[in-house]
Amino acid sequence: MTTLNTKDLQKIIREAVGTVLDGKVGQMAKAVVSEAAVLMPRSFILKGDVSSPTTKENHEKLYNSYVTSHNKISAKLDSVPKTDADNPNDSEFRRLKIDETHNMNGVKFHELLFTNTGDLNSEIRADSIPFMRLSRDWGTFDQWQLDFRACGMASREGWAVCYFDPFKQRYFNTFVEGHTLHLSLMAIPVLVLDTWHHAWFLDFPGEKLEYLNRSMREINWNVVEMRMLIAEMAKLHQLYSVQAVVSNEKETSVGLPQSSPPVEVLGGRIL
Ligand SMILES: [Fe+2]
Repeated sequence: MTTLNTKDLQKIIREAVGTVLDGKVGQMAKAVVSEAAVLMPRSFILKGDVSSPTTKENHEKLYNSYVTSHNKISAKLDSVPKTDADNPNDSEFRRLKIDETHNMNGVKFHELLFTNTGDLNSEIRADSIPFMRLSRDWGTFDQWQLDFRACGMASREGWAVCYFDPFKQRYFNTFVEGHTLHLSLMAIPVLVLDTWHHAWFLDFPGEKLEYLNRSMREINWNVVEMRMLIAEMAKLHQLYSVQAVVSNEKETSVGLPQSSPPVEVLGGRIL
């Protein structure tokens, strides 16, 4: 994959932001554009024998297009009026929010993919964390393999994902349609495989099973192990243990104009 220097990065940001600045929103966007959540594309060397150079190039192009699209959308969101959301049947704000997540996840999924695949010396040891965890949660490691592969087969255009669920404190397999559908809340991905057609149909026409088999033989288990340790050490299950402290004595403000933010800040706002 091509390495981007500072000049390239500046060009990408300028293009993303410039499109908006030159458009309808003009001066209003200039005032707030510094708040845009800009993504920076990272450099990856795509290894492995599963994908042809053309497929790897396609991955690279798609990854960069998700970054560029996300940044353009983020800049637009800085200026689109929030009142536009009042009609969920026709809302630019709504469309941008959907595309924001789509592109953000496109970036995340590809970054996860680029580092958990392509290991020509792939091996999983019986005393490794991935082997022990996946065997624990599926009964045997082979049961996990078959389940994960089935998720890849069941996916239409999307991803096969093995994730840690802090709520249940165990691992699950699933598939994601597109970049956003069917992913459980707070799922922390530790292994992903690309099941969009661009990832396999060119090199394995009509042979998705073979693509998945070959890809699973190039999983970088060291990367998966590190992700598992990070996911488990984060102790995110504690999020579900937080108890609300409720006071029934608090007075609720009424009669605020509709344009006001709904929540009052105690102690005043910092402007
Ligand atoms: Fe892809």
